[in-house]
Order: sequence, then C-alpha cells, then structure tokens
Amino acid sequence: MKLPRQFFKPLAIGAPEPLKELPVNLERMIHFLPPHIEKMRAKVPDMIPKVDVILGNLEDAIPADQKQAARAGFIEMARDNDFGSTGLWTRINCLNSPWVFDDITEIVREVGNKLDVIMLPKVEGPWDIYYLDQLLAQLEARYEVKKPILIHAILETAEGVNNVVDIATASPRMHGMSLGPADLAASRGMKTTRVGGGHPAYGILADSDGSQGKRDFYQQDLWHFTVAKMVDACSAAGIKAFYGPFGDFSDLEACEAQFRNAFLLGCAGAWSLHPSQIGIAKTVFSPDPDEVKFALRILEGMPDGTGAVMIDGKMQDDATWKQAKVIADLARIVAEKDPDTAEKYGL
Ligand code: GLV
Ligand code: MG
Repeated sequence: MKLPRQFFKPLAIGAPEPLKELPVNLERMIHFLPPHIEKMRAKVPDMIPKVDVILGNLEDAIPADQKQAARAGFIEMARDNDFGSTGLWTRINCLNSPWVFDDITEIVREVGNKLDVIMLPKVEGPWDIYYLDQLLAQLEARYEVKKPILIHAILETAEGVNNVVDIATASPRMHGMSLGPADLAASRGMKTTRVGGGHPAYGILADSDGSQGKRDFYQQDLWHFTVAKMVDACSAAGIKAFYGPFGDFSDLEACEAQFRNAFLLGCAGAWSLHPSQIGIAKTVFSPDPDEVKFALRILEGMPDGTGAVMIDGKMQDDATWKQAKVIADLARIVAEKDPDTAEKYGL
C-alpha cells in the first residue's frame, strides 16, 4: 500500500498533477461508436450536442482485422471535432491483447490533450490500474499532456468483482467503473446469453395456497448484487459507478427499467449502444421533476441541515436533508446543461 503522502504525486517527471477530486461532469450516457466505420465518424458533429460522453470503441465488437482502422478512426474523429463540454473517451483493448500497447501509446501521442477518459476492459485487480497509471504518466510527460487522462474500469470478471474495492482506490486517476454484464456472465458461468437486463427464469415463485392454481412468479434483477457492490466501492472512493450495456435494442421498456434500477441504486449513467437508448438514459439519469421539487422544499425547510421538520406528513431530518442534497445537486448540474429540464425543476 502506497504511503498517503505519495498517493497524489505524479508517476513521471513532467506528468500533470493527479486530480484530488473528480471534475463535476454530467455523464448520463456514454455513447459508443465504432470508429473504423466512416459513416459513423461522420455522425460525430451531430452527436456531440446530443450526448454527455462520446466513446470510440476499440475493443469487443470491433473485428480483429479492423482494430488498427478503429484506432486510426478514433484519432481522426478526436482531431477533427471540437467536443466542448461533451466528454471524449475511448475503450481500449484489454491488457493482454496484441493491440493495447499501440492503442495507448498512439492515442496519447496523437490526441492526449483531447482525451478525457480511457475505459479499460476486463480489469481483474489493482495491478491492472497500476500498470496503466504508470504508462499514462510516462506518455503524458513525453507528449506534454496538460491534464491527467482518467481511467474508467469495466467490472466484468469474477476476479474483478472480488477486488472491486482495491480497483476503485488504486489511483487518483480512477474516474469510475461500469458493470460489464456480458463478460461478467461468461466469467461467472451464469446461464444467460443476454447482454444485461433480466432473465425470465430468474425470480421468485409465490407461495402455494394449496389450490393447485397458477402461482405468481416475480422476475428478479440479476445484477442487483453486483451493481450495489460496485456503487459502495465507488462511492467510498469518491468515484462514479455506471451500468454498462443493454443489448436488446428492440426492448426499450426493459432497457429503461434496468437503467432506472441502476440510477436508484446510485449509478451516474449507463452506456448507450444505439441512438434509441440516448433519450432513455437522459431521462432516467436526470432526477424526476417531482422528486427535485420535493428535495428543494426539504433544503428550504431545513436551511442549516439540522433538526427535524414535517413536510406533507413526512418526517425530515439531517439524513433526509443529505438525500435531498444529492438530488438537488444533480438537478442543478442537469439544469445547467439543459434549459428545458431546468424549467421542469423550477430552477
Ligand atoms: C461489456 O463490455 C460487457 O461485457 O458487458
Ligand atoms: Mg465486455
């Protein structure tokens, strides 16, 4: 374990100072693009104002013979566009792949000053973060990158889930983590071929009333345990938790339900793999206007955050003040970006 006084020191001479706090950014959806496809790159200027984060995907879903084209396409789209307040991320290939070294070195060399976050797949433990952390510091120094490039881990192996707390606290470069339900299902030996979401056979059967009639069956959330564990690890470390992909583009309702569970449990956003999921994530990961109005009443009713008051028959105290502040703080960030929603919030 590194000494606390060493933790925030740059890992290479000339690398930018590590951040003590994460930048406050709205990241309701991380929108995935396959950068080897020219038609997709051409959509980037239109996409920038519509999403919170654009991610150029270099890993799974990119064919092996297109890996270099995807990397080159990402560098091109990073260079050719002004992203403003929209985040620019890339998902690199995993650390034992033949492509990852060039992914990291070429991207930092070419567009290190535009890149906000590197998403690292299949993180097994803090050692994966230490490696990328050190390499990024060397490259930042070498190519005069001005602000630290952050790391976002995908939690998608059984070993990674076991080590989630150590991953979350491995470096000041940690931005957050996403659940990767497809790889995680495979790694754990779960018996599902779906990418995220529920499974009709995973649930609870209501008690029998002895009549032999049809008993109710309630489907349960396969991901509840892991999302909750990830949220605890991330929140304790001061970083952000995200739900990952929802693969059934034909079932927008199920996507919304899965995203909403993640939001309510503490996640900041989810991936959008298809344009139809952007609006869902935008709505779900922005607090509900009625909740925001109620939260603002709690904050007004308890100006110094202590004591107890009744609002609409509901007891409020220091703890509910803190809950209200979570919602109101997020609402203010959403309102800043989105004037229509600001109006709905009364902000
Ligand atoms: C995402 O990468 C997943 O494996 O679900
Ligand atoms: Mg994966």
